[in-house]
Amino acid sequence: MAQNTESRHGMWSNRWMFVLAAAGSAVGLGNIWKFPYITGENGGGAFVLLYLGCVALVGIPIMMAEVLIGREGRYSPINTVRVLIQQHKSSPAWVIIGWMGMLAGFLILSYYAVIAGWALHYIVQMANGSFDGVTAEFANDAFNGFLADPWKMVMWHTIFMTATIFIVARGVTKGLETAIRWFMPALLILLVVLLGYGVNSGGFEQGFAFMFSFNWESVTAESVLIAMGQAFFTLSLGMGAIMAYGAYMPSNASITSTVVIIALLDTFVALAAGLAIFPIVFANGLEPSQGPGLMFVTIPLAFGQMPLGALFGVIFFALVSFAAITSAISLTEPALAYLVEEYNAKRSRVAISVGIFCWVLGIGTVLSFNHWAEKYIVSDLTFFTFIDYVSQNIMLPLGGLLIALFAAYALPKTVVGSQLGLREGPLAVLWKVVIGVIAPLGVLTVFIATILGLG
Ligand code: PHE
Repeated sequence: MAQNTESRHGMWSNRWMFVLAAAGSAVGLGNIWKFPYITGENGGGAFVLLYLGCVALVGIPIMMAEVLIGREGRYSPINTVRVLIQQHKSSPAWVIIGWMGMLAGFLILSYYAVIAGWALHYIVQMANGSFDGVTAEFANDAFNGFLADPWKMVMWHTIFMTATIFIVARGVTKGLETAIRWFMPALLILLVVLLGYGVNSGGFEQGFAFMFSFNWESVTAESVLIAMGQAFFTLSLGMGAIMAYGAYMPSNASITSTVVIIALLDTFVALAAGLAIFPIVFANGLEPSQGPGLMFVTIPLAFGQMPLGALFGVIFFALVSFAAITSAISLTEPALAYLVEEYNAKRSRVAISVGIFCWVLGIGTVLSFNHWAEKYIVSDLTFFTFIDYVSQNIMLPLGGLLIALFAAYALPKTVVGSQLGLREGPLAVLWKVVIGVIAPLGVLTVFIATILGLG
């Protein structure tokens, strides 16, 4: 059967728009608040090598699988998998890939929008000069005070969600492509500016050593799990975002080289973020940390001590916000495309409904930091940490595993061969071994180890 060459939702104008869109999805909070720190903690340069190994052996193959499946079907992930199942007479059970991905997208977006809202709040705080010359205690209290105020948090959460929905409602070309065209170059420029600032802050040597000196003693079995989990989350794999974007990719672009470029861009941003952040932290005699503590206490505090700190602080939080919004829009795409296809509904209506749904879900995350801070869903997991755990540690790896197996065993060789431009021969065999054995085993190991609580 002849395949669609266009998606009904629109198409990226060219291959580079696909690269920017997928890189926009990949570059997010994971690059800025997680990667630099886990690198420093798990052996520096040694961890970077480990991480690159995970990207090469698991991340890149699974991303290729998502793109090729999406481009072959040219529908939303759910319907793409459905169509391919019908065409190739494979088990209807594979459609779980699409459903679980859509659900994971809702869950991740619900808390992603809350945290991105914090970054918006901090743009204003930095611009006000609220952190100029303050003490560590002040920075801590300021953050805790903010977390204790659900109304303020909901306000910023609402602003971020509204901006996201406004963009996605306008469609692939007018909405997504326009936003990505502006945000991605802006993000790269801001990053380079901050990198220059970090290099000249006086703490560069220490920051560089923290991230890159080879420290094999700090590499543990757990580091491998962390590297793999990070490779997965940071490349936006396992929930169909990249599959949905792949459906809008021009037919003649090479999947392999495009995916490699995206993975390199994502890694570059993660490394550059670390080299921008840690020198500033060390220059002010502060201790590096990760997550909310790094981003919303240590960094504002460090900027507050620096010349032009307010300005560069604004630049930093604008960077975080841009990175977050280009990830957020990709989290909605599998659901939007599916609902438009299934109900022939107007995209803007569907976007508003999805936005409201995720916004309401996000209230649970907001409350997890104040009124519900002591309410646990299971063991010591609050609403927020529970959603985060289930989506990131269970749904994404499981989704990625199924995607790899689907590409390897449910699709005929001819389909994969023509999408990847691989005929018979050593490269075709290599692909099959990587996507059918190495990547699934890698994901499975991490998945089981995480569930058993080793990671
Ligand atoms: N890759 C994003 C980050 O690093 C998170 C994300 C995961 C986005 C899955 C979309 C899908 O922050």
